[in-house]
Amino acid sequence: MVSEEILRRRTFAIISHPDAGKTTLTEKLLLFGGAINTAGAVKSNKITKSATSDFLEIEKQRGISVATSVMGFDYAGHKINILDTPGHKDFAEDTYRTLSAVDSVILVVDCVKGVEEQTRNLMQVCRMRNTPVIVFINKMDREGRDPYELLDELERELNIHVRPLSWPIGMGSTFKGVYNLFDKDLRLFTANKQQLTKDVIAIEDIKSSELDEIIGKQSADTLRSDTDFLNEFYENFDLDLYKEGYLAPVFFGSAIYNFGVGELLDTFVKIAPSPQAVQASQREVRPEENAFTGFIFKIHANLDPNHRDRIAFCRICSGKFERNKLYYHTRLDKRIRFSSPTSFMANEKSLLDEAWPGDVVGLYDTGSFKIGDTLTEGELLQYKGIPSFSPEIFKEVVNKDPFKTKQLEKGIRQLTDEGVAQLFMQQPGSRKIVGTVGELQFDVIKFRLKQEYGATCDLYPLNYYKACWITSDDKEALARFIAIKGSHIAYDKDDNPVFFADTSWVLRSVQEHYPKLNFHFTSDFK
Ligand code: G4P
Repeated sequence: MVSEEILRRRTFAIISHPDAGKTTLTEKLLLFGGAINTAGAVKSNKITKSATSDFLEIEKQRGISVATSVMGFDYAGHKINILDTPGHKDFAEDTYRTLSAVDSVILVVDCVKGVEEQTRNLMQVCRMRNTPVIVFINKMDREGRDPYELLDELERELNIHVRPLSWPIGMGSTFKGVYNLFDKDLRLFTANKQQLTKDVIAIEDIKSSELDEIIGKQSADTLRSDTDFLNEFYENFDLDLYKEGYLAPVFFGSAIYNFGVGELLDTFVKIAPSPQAVQASQREVRPEENAFTGFIFKIHANLDPNHRDRIAFCRICSGKFERNKLYYHTRLDKRIRFSSPTSFMANEKSLLDEAWPGDVVGLYDTGSFKIGDTLTEGELLQYKGIPSFSPEIFKEVVNKDPFKTKQLEKGIRQLTDEGVAQLFMQQPGSRKIVGTVGELQFDVIKFRLKQEYGATCDLYPLNYYKACWITSDDKEALARFIAIKGSHIAYDKDDNPVFFADTSWVLRSVQEHYPKLNFHFTSDFK
């Protein structure tokens, strides 16, 4: 039973630079999957105009965004789980954490813009984990770049081999459709945003005159020479290389016109990996193991003051999760029972009784969870791979309302547990420094401290360049360094010492002067 359930699951994220079409593609996949009936049901989590006001607007709609954080649906005998990722780069850490909970990704690229900044950053994370990638080149209804040039750019900039599995016939105003090189059939484009076309014309032999009749002699000849070239230039599609994260199959389409989406989905369920083994500090855990294990990769607070609880998102790694069973919280060394775990189907939440590897379960939480926590049936395990990145913007938190000191402390702790930012404490005087990767998080922190905890604070910018965790095998050397650099040392929430460098030059010079010390830029040394 377990292995059957595992094999039919596909858990993935759609990633892109903002505006490439991630939201549109997500919605169209749900429409194709029959999970929703109308367009417009998937809310964009994009932050555009004035960052803060948009964010606050999104926060108000948190009910919706909780539901759309994971979108599950059944398609062709498969259970598909799409994990949503924020588009804005200030929330990149949130996205990186979500990527630790998926087995593959679909990368959307705008055919006019090609590879953009966020495309590069996100792919770097995928490459770190060897996550399998399918590329969807979107907006083919527009006059975009030459497809060969786009493929070259993908290989060059993303450090991955590509293999087109479909090929466009024309582009923009002359776009006629795509020829599927894998299934050897033709899909014709019609500019219709409403209709879900699945018209497929099988053309086994591309030399046949049928092709000329359908798309015209000139387009047919171009397609013939293109396919000859592609088959010669690119190796055959190798499924293993894709699963190892070295080779990305590429599809062309137009999400807004529903074009290429059905084809993408069909190929996706065929080739994308089912839940894979996950590495814990102690050992590798296989999904088909009987005992349940999982980890928390995201925590979502509820802004409604009447419902203060949070939802912790748990990715199941092995075994079967059951409602009301006692599970072991390994960090707290405590057993917890979940009476109302949530499943996410399309854009609705509902109570679930059981879930399987690859699924994401929403657990109501009153403050027991931190990002990265592991749940098991009793085994002492800690899943790896959700690092914090060393932050780049720092502010000191100064309480403005002495009567709300406790609320401020609690608020800051909980927000940092959620992964909104990182907290460092500096002695003497318990000075609190909050570090983030983007400015926007500070707006979020201030807003939520006020809204959820009734606390007000000022955030004073500090002029540090970077904070790095420091370790050494030589305990004395470490203690000496901490004593000498006292004013630039703080401690993270787990009491690990952190060095704050004023400039990149200072950092380099300290690294040279203290060879016995290790300076870490992500927290996964722990
Ligand atoms: P994102 O989540 O990656 O940020 O992108 P999103 O889907 O929101 O799409 C960004 C813009 O690109 C939207 O236009 C969307 O309609 C458009 N778009 C998406 N897919 C296609 C496509 O295949 N062809 C064309 N021509 N456009 C596409 P917008 O003007 O920003 O928003 P809207 O007013 O259309 O909603």
